[in-house]
Amino acid sequence: MPEQVSRVPYPLRIAMHKVLMRGFDVGVKVLPAKQPRLFIGPGSIDRLAGYIGSYEFDRVLLVTDTGITGLGLHTRFAEVIESSGTKVTVYDSVEPNPTEQQIEQGIATAKREGCEAIIGFGGGSPIDAAKVIAAGMTNDKPVAKMEGPFRVRKWPLPLFAVPTTAGTGAEVTIAAVVTNPAERRKYAIADYKLVPLAAGLDPQITVGLPPHITAATGMDALTHGIESYISKRATPESERASIATVRGVFAHLHTAYSNGSDLVAREGMAMAAFEGGMSFTSVGLGYVHGIAHKLGGLYGIPHGLANAVVLPHVLDYSKDACTARLANLAGAVGLGANGSSEAALADAFIDAVRGLGAEVGIPETFEEIQPADVPLIAKSAIDEGFELYAVPKYMRQADGERVVGKLLS
Ligand SMILES: [Fe+2]
Repeated sequence: MPEQVSRVPYPLRIAMHKVLMRGFDVGVKVLPAKQPRLFIGPGSIDRLAGYIGSYEFDRVLLVTDTGITGLGLHTRFAEVIESSGTKVTVYDSVEPNPTEQQIEQGIATAKREGCEAIIGFGGGSPIDAAKVIAAGMTNDKPVAKMEGPFRVRKWPLPLFAVPTTAGTGAEVTIAAVVTNPAERRKYAIADYKLVPLAAGLDPQITVGLPPHITAATGMDALTHGIESYISKRATPESERASIATVRGVFAHLHTAYSNGSDLVAREGMAMAAFEGGMSFTSVGLGYVHGIAHKLGGLYGIPHGLANAVVLPHVLDYSKDACTARLANLAGAVGLGANGSSEAALADAFIDAVRGLGAEVGIPETFEEIQPADVPLIAKSAIDEGFELYAVPKYMRQADGERVVGKLLS
């Protein structure tokens, strides 16, 4: 059965969307822009642990996954916190694309143990779960009731983050993504109160990250930098962070992928991911993320990998509406030359994005996508765009289906 496209006339949808985006712009200006205190460099998580210890909490909940606890990556960090007299309870039942149930279980654990602060330790999933657990500890309502913007009424418990992948930027953003498996969908909880108090970017903790995850998470960061830069809501502050993200990924991803123990490349990627989070947290993303979220909800395709594959196709679609922006990104990564037209530079940048993906083993298509799902995926991305993203070029259903169709193998 064909997907039901919105009955609201398309020009009216765009007009309503633009009013919403203006509202977001006003919100960004009046709401406090929070940033985490940053601990960076080899050994920085020891310093973060000491900082957490200085709060003199009786007990904290460390939210992570079994991949981390299996390797014992969190052990030293927890020991340093405990050496200050603060006890650490480890909750490692978070899986990729954390579900409402895993988060509710984390809240129950934190309440039972009397935890006074929450630490997210891992990739985007444990950090997102930690954010929502911290909010759930003080807001007496189910996780699902916090869906959407600004529905976290009370301040969460103190929150800290240690990203062990360099991609999501979850350590700095206002959002957390939650999965509802029964409905096969993901949704965001977004509120300035979810920004952690402090984050530790320690390259030593990412040296064991396998190349394919290094690649996918790094391409997620690149997508944040690019989608925020071509957003119509971009500001001078977000643009600076976007450019730093794109430059950082182009400078360091290939080395981090091919030589995982290169601490300079690992730290460069950690910082690029942090800047990526800064770049989009107040100006939003675009259709790459809209499509990627649906691919995660339908098939469980990892977020970074989905973005990496989708990114060049959405740029091809959008480029005639953001040629100058893409040309500027080409300049930022050293592709500029005297006399080059903006159109040629924009094409060169998209080619370079494709080339970087190929260098780090990103495929061009997905076997998982069922042709019958293409209309649903397109509709979901378009709807997400109208709700959240000031994209440079809007899609109609047929445009979306053409773009998604290119992902079929
Ligand atoms: Fe992302």
